[in-house]
Amino acid sequence: LTSERYGVQRLPFSHVSDSDLAFFEHMIPGGVITDPEELKPFNVDWLQSVRGSSKLLLRPRTTAQVSEILRYCNERNLAVNPQGGNTGLVGGSVPVFDEIILSTALMNQVISFDSVSGVLVCQAGCILENLNQYLEELDFIMPLDLGAKGSCHIGGNVATNAGGLRLLRYGSLRGTVLGLEVVLANGSVLNCLTSLRKDNTGYDLKQLFIGSEGTLGVITAVSILCPRKPMAVNLAFLGCQSFSQILETFTTCKGMLGEILSAYEFMDDRCMKLVVSHLKLSNPVTESPFFILIETSGSNTTHDQEKLNNFLECVMASGLVTDGTVATDDKKIKTLWALRERITEALTYDGYVFKYDISLPVEKLYDLVIDTRVRLGRSAKNVVGYGHLGDGNLHLNITAESYSHTLLDAIEPFVYEWTAKYRGSISAEHGLGFKKKHYIQYSKPWETVLLMQQFKAMLDPKGILNPYKTLPSSS
Ligand code: FAD
Ligand code: MLT
Ligand code: ZN
Repeated sequence: LTSERYGVQRLPFSHVSDSDLAFFEHMIPGGVITDPEELKPFNVDWLQSVRGSSKLLLRPRTTAQVSEILRYCNERNLAVNPQGGNTGLVGGSVPVFDEIILSTALMNQVISFDSVSGVLVCQAGCILENLNQYLEELDFIMPLDLGAKGSCHIGGNVATNAGGLRLLRYGSLRGTVLGLEVVLANGSVLNCLTSLRKDNTGYDLKQLFIGSEGTLGVITAVSILCPRKPMAVNLAFLGCQSFSQILETFTTCKGMLGEILSAYEFMDDRCMKLVVSHLKLSNPVTESPFFILIETSGSNTTHDQEKLNNFLECVMASGLVTDGTVATDDKKIKTLWALRERITEALTYDGYVFKYDISLPVEKLYDLVIDTRVRLGRSAKNVVGYGHLGDGNLHLNITAESYSHTLLDAIEPFVYEWTAKYRGSISAEHGLGFKKKHYIQYSKPWETVLLMQQFKAMLDPKGILNPYKTLPSSS
């Protein structure tokens, strides 16, 4: 059980009473779920590694309803766990004890789209893939893409400041999110839902909520800048003999593909073995220690293909890359992307997954995988490395037959100390959630953590919003 494994104590919040249920029923008829069977998937995270015991799930449709719910919960001292698509990977999206789950699943309406500016305004519960499909019909795309696109909500993406597969090209949500509407713990609605590219009137408050993991407010609507749909997309899937050659290929790639480069991802041979054996995908190139996935997105098919071909000729001739395949049609592009995107899923079939999401100077990225492999020896089933190399983001994952406290002790704090030694980040894009909040000091000085705790206390004085998550308790 979550609380036993992590040794946390329930804070003195109220318990949900019959009169609370009557109040919620009256406010959102049909949006109140108490059936234990129906609640089960909302109490357990995507990785099935943490589990809460909430007895109440609320599904509001409007900002006004979220506001009323939070005003009431704040007065009654009831703890609340905001939840989007529940695809989070750090245990932030599910309750630890009996917090009320506040789901954005029914807040799924597009509010407006401006095809001149490319600004989309929508409710927080819109599923990322649905938004992308909606935009594609209008010749635009979302500026972010991730393997969980079919389930994750845009509100959840913003709350975690999700990175993903397009960050290299379109930048982080801190740049593309133009405005937010947020309901604070006391129920007041903070309207920062502007669609302006430029606005230097005072502090940029929306930034406080981007990446705040449901601890400072509930995001109810998002205004986001969307790029035009690229007219030409090409993919190259390449085999590489060493990590240093991956780096050299990256440098060459940036020079030769420049403005059309939209993704530079890598995976090691062990990842390939997992997607092949567990998901029955096939490796399109010869066995190699490493694989690179390069995507280009541009506006001129002939021009882009010519550039990509020149680049490929260069890296093949110099021996940086030993084998490869290229895709220009949609179907093959999706098949090749699946090899990289579905590693997360393949890992879950391999056993219990210890998941790390690290930012490092790019030349150090794979050393952590090697050192961890050496350290753990045969006590781990697989130690694999993959990730967003173009962003300096490594996903180090370790699998074992089942959860083992001894193995966890061998991994942590080793991985965090290693990361801190090179001034990396112990969470590049997944957040801290429940599992990593005690390790924040490996990446942030104490005075910054203290200031974060002060912001939390100011915005949520009773601490009802996602307690036990993101920050270590101020005591
Ligand atoms: P949830 O999991 O429901 O919640 C995540 C956190 O946000 C929780 O702390 C929750 O309380 C809070 N939250 C959710 N909605 C709101 C809201 N409206 N207001 C306030 N707080 C809220 N992440 C990446 O960064 N890059 C990737 O490439 C990536 N790939 C993934 C691939 C797979 C297969 C999976 C399973 C996950 C992946 N993730 C990735 C992690 C995850 O998908 C992202 O963190 C995603 O953004 C979470 O969105 P969600 O709607 O599922 O949020
Ligand atoms: C990814 O890049 O595939 C995601 O962040 C998920 C993961 O780390 O497994
Ligand atoms: Zn990732």
